[in-house]
Parts: sequence; structure tokens; C-alpha cells
Amino acid sequence: MEETEKIVEEAQQEIEKAQTSRALYETKMRYLGRTGKVTALLKGMREIAAEHRPAFGKKINDLRERLEAAFAAVEQKIKLREMEQKLKAEEIDVTMPGRHAQKGALHPITRTRQELIDVFAGMGFEVFEGPEIESEYYNFTALNTPADHPARDMQDTFYITDEFLLRTQTSAGQIRLMEKKKPPIKMLSPGRVFRSDDDATHSPMFHQMEGLVVDEGVTLCDLQGMLDEFARTMFSETSKTRLRPSYFPFTEPSVEVDVSCAACGGKGCPLCKGTGWIEVLGAGMVNRRVLENCGVDPDRYTGFAFGMGIERIAMLKYGIGHIRLFTENDVRFLEQFKD
Ligand code: DAH
Repeated sequence: MEETEKIVEEAQQEIEKAQTSRALYETKMRYLGRTGKVTALLKGMREIAAEHRPAFGKKINDLRERLEAAFAAVEQKIKLREMEQKLKAEEIDVTMPGRHAQKGALHPITRTRQELIDVFAGMGFEVFEGPEIESEYYNFTALNTPADHPARDMQDTFYITDEFLLRTQTSAGQIRLMEKKKPPIKMLSPGRVFRSDDDATHSPMFHQMEGLVVDEGVTLCDLQGMLDEFARTMFSETSKTRLRPSYFPFTEPSVEVDVSCAACGGKGCPLCKGTGWIEVLGAGMVNRRVLENCGVDPDRYTGFAFGMGIERIAMLKYGIGHIRLFTENDVRFLEQFKD
């Protein structure tokens, strides 16, 4: 009798101390568990005289019920409190603005390259890509560039061996395609080119876009018509082109092509250095020697070719002041080309 009252009192104190449901559970096990105090009392029943057993058993059962009730009352309270704490800790404000995933953007060179391809693909050009490591033959000789031509100077060209080099121009693609395909030809050849050159508008690696059209009766007027279309799409609806005589070994006649300055509409501004025109590419009628080198009959076929720097077009289009920005990959620069 005494003992049971003591146990109830003791348990009551411990229950009050228990702060968490885990602590409460452990306390409960110490009394009501398999090796708990109450269970131990029950086991001791054997040592009690038979006539006292029923009364003793009842006592223990009462004790167990009282303890169970005491635990249950506190258990409910603790569980509720813990649930409230948990909800509070995990609270989310559904009205907060979401976190947006960073969205990538196409590199301005990729983008410009794609826009150029779109312009010319619309006129029926097909894309042909040649190798970046070229032989001297495709890069120079077949393009009517004799061995003593300044373009072959070691200063400009990265030679790998006496015979192989990093292509200095995508014009090499003209030869490779004409060797494979007979006219009519409408080719666009984009790619990386390399020159020993480095300043605000030149870089040892840059990109070019080559164009080649060969068929019967192709003239310089066809070239200008297509370039006008190119200028209107790439720069402004009102852009015009102007051809100036020039020289390239692989074209005859050769021209430099200027586009009317989109910044001032041709009136003259710092960008066009007051001239109203901006030089954007080299072009010309394919030199008959080049056609001959590729097995194309120059008395039957004529063609024009053009080559432009993709960086240059992008710099003009987006007002970019230094060519190195394209390769530094500063996200603050690249980010501006998101759609
Ligand atoms: N390949 C020349 C260069 O890199 C550009 C060029 C000029 C390409 C005239 C042509 C062309 O196809 O006809 O400067």
C-alpha cells in the first residue's frame, strides 16, 4: 500500500519534469515498461501469500491505471505544444515572391551568327563548315594568293607546320565546297578564324561568315541586292550599302562594302567618324583563276563571294566598344543579351 502511493508520487514528480514527448515516454517506460517498476511489483506477486494475492493484484492494477491516466493527460499537452512549435518553425509565407531560376542567354556571337544565317538561309543559302586547321593550299594557294603575298607573312598567320596552319579566313570553305559541288552554288560558311593580331577591334581568334554564289549569269548587282537585304535585316529598315573598289586576290573586281550608319542615319556621327558609312565586309566577283582551281568553267559560270567578321557586325549592332568583351565571359556583359 505504502509503496504504491510512493510510486504514484514519485511518478507524478517525474512527469512534471518531462519537457518533451521523448522524455515523457522514457519516464513512462521506467514505470510501466517491461522492466519498469510497476511490472516488477507484479512479478513479485509470487512471493505473496495466496490469500493476499487478489487484493494485491487489484492494488497494482489500480496503480497502473492511475499512472496511465497521469501520463496520458500530460502526453496530450506536450504533443499539442510540440505540434504548435513545429508549425511555427516551418511556417511559410505563401504571399512571398518566388525565387526565380537564372535564365541563360545566347552569346552575342552565337546570336549574331544565327541572325546572319537566317537572313541568307531565307535567300536559299546552305551552311557549309570547313576545318579550322587548314592546309596552305586551301587557305591561300587555291584562293589565288601567291607565296609572296603579304597575307602569308608569318606575322599574320599561325603556322602549325610548313604545310598546315590555323585558317586565317573562312574563304577556304569556298574551295572545299566547289571541289565537291557543281554550280548552282549558294553557300554560307561561318566559323572561327585565327590571326596574329590584337587590339580593341582585333583578336587572335574571331569569327567570320563567308558567302559564295556561283551560277550562270551571276553579277555584282546580285551581290549588292543581297547585301542590301542583309543590311536592312541586320541594322535598320532604311539601311543602304555602298561598294568601293578594293583588292583581294580571290576576287576580280573586288569591293569593300559599307553600310549606311544606323546610329546617325547617314548624316555623320562619331561612330562613322563623320562619314555616314561604316565598312562591314569584303566582297567581289570570284576570280576566274579560283573557279579554274576548283574545276568550274569560268566561261560558263560566274560568281560572287563575300566575307564579314561576325564580331564586327555584333559590335556595330549592339554598340560594343572592345572585342575582348566577347571572350571575357563577364556575366554582366552577357546578361544584356537575354531576350
Ligand atoms: N577573306 C577576306 C578577309 O578575311 C574577306 C573576304 C573578302 C572574303 C572578299 C571574300 C571576298 O569572300 O570575296 O579579309
